Amino acid sequence: MVRSLKLSVFMSPTGGHVGGWRHPDAVSDAGFNFDRWIEFAQIAERGKLDMLFLADGNGVNGVDNPALLSRNPTTRPVVIEPVCLHSAIAAVTSRIGLVATATTTYDQPFSVARRYAGLDWLSKGRAGWNVVTSSNPEDSKNFSQKDHADLANRYERAGEFVDIVKDLWDSWADDAFLLDKESGQFLDGDKVRLLNHEGRYFSVRGPLNSARPPQGHPVVVVASGSADGMELAARTADVVFTVAETKESAQAFYADVKGRMAKYGRAPEELIVMPGASVFVGPTEADADRIYRELQELIPDSVGMPTLGRICGVDLSGCSPDDPLPPLPETKGITSFRNLAETMARRDNLTLRQLYQRILPARGHALMKGDPAQVADTMEEWLNDRACDGFNLVAAYLPAGLEAVVDLLVPELQRRGLFRKEYEGTTLRDSLGLARPANRFFPQAAD
Ligand SMILES: Cc1cc2nc3c(=O)[nH]c(=O)nc-3n(C[C@H](O)[C@H](O)[C@H](O)COP(=O)(O)O)c2cc1C
Repeated sequence: MVRSLKLSVFMSPTGGHVGGWRHPDAVSDAGFNFDRWIEFAQIAERGKLDMLFLADGNGVNGVDNPALLSRNPTTRPVVIEPVCLHSAIAAVTSRIGLVATATTTYDQPFSVARRYAGLDWLSKGRAGWNVVTSSNPEDSKNFSQKDHADLANRYERAGEFVDIVKDLWDSWADDAFLLDKESGQFLDGDKVRLLNHEGRYFSVRGPLNSARPPQGHPVVVVASGSADGMELAARTADVVFTVAETKESAQAFYADVKGRMAKYGRAPEELIVMPGASVFVGPTEADADRIYRELQELIPDSVGMPTLGRICGVDLSGCSPDDPLPPLPETKGITSFRNLAETMARRDNLTLRQLYQRILPARGHALMKGDPAQVADTMEEWLNDRACDGFNLVAAYLPAGLEAVVDLLVPELQRRGLFRKEYEGTTLRDSLGLARPANRFFPQAAD
């Protein structure tokens, strides 16, 4: 059987390329203009993409560096909260999956279970939760905490958090709500389960004040590249987003994360692996090269250097762009992107300028550039060589980068039988080919 690709699109209000918002064809006001999101979502749905993914943080990333903050909107100075935004997008779309990020480090399981159950109801079964442990250490300061916990603690808390959320989604049997006007019985009191969870990080009584979501459980995504994150994904996730610069590193991640599943009684196909792919596609190779060059010229040293410093968790203000990467301190931030930058710099002997020019267009994700056939060739090879089950596509600038994916790349993938021509059903689980999970407390009830 020919395997087909699953495609997510990784959205941020100003596009995936650090200079993307400045391109003459780009719109850059999506942080405060909902009409832009209607347009983006409808383009993505026209392309039959599996899901629209909203990354998120709980703070502005560059407050300590005004020069960076004022020139680089990927510091997230203006972002609409993603469940809030997807709830509105749900009303103007009908098939595309709506994946929103929420952190297990600063949120509470009851609130997350409730919000995503709500999004699943509003979208008729298209919700997904991107589980993160938060990449920006300074978010702690917005949540009455001085410090960001270290990675191991964050993932331990994340494991307990995700289990509680899933249990809360199972609070009610699927057929608990009778709405029997005749007898006056609104619900069946035998079909609810109080959680009474007491754990290391949380105590939660339950039940959730929502009927079981249409998908049973909204799709659970884990975004990570670390071993702790892989373990969490192998045990709990339907999808894993990761970062891999080369096919070989993606293959290693794919084998590693899928290899961790058997001990949890899970089959490898129950987890969809989606590395990021930063796509620059044009009608011809020369067009793709031109767009890429135009965007690269929009990152001056004054933006490239401090942005690279943030990714690597090191202060580069005393360095020249022609210097090599200094030794990196330990970080509580995002290790996957940092480690990738370090490997690339040391392996290819890069100066800081060369490194930021390599990292920033794709933010460390694999760069796929060319005409539709060239990009499709690369994607097909990654799929066939078990480097991925699909991609989390980064569109460099909006909406043109997304339109290029939908109007140029998708038809080429469809022609090769590598991507759907129509949505398979109505829910995100239908698109991803994932079963609706049985209720673990009421397994016999209708699913
Ligand atoms: C592809 C990808 C996307 C991510 N998206 C986010 C995000 O939107 N918000 C966030 O706080 N962290 C995000 N993270 C980082 C996770 O929060 C992660 O749990 C944490 O920073 C540690 O990273 P690691 O497990 O990859 O080392 C992302 C990570 C990856 C690999």
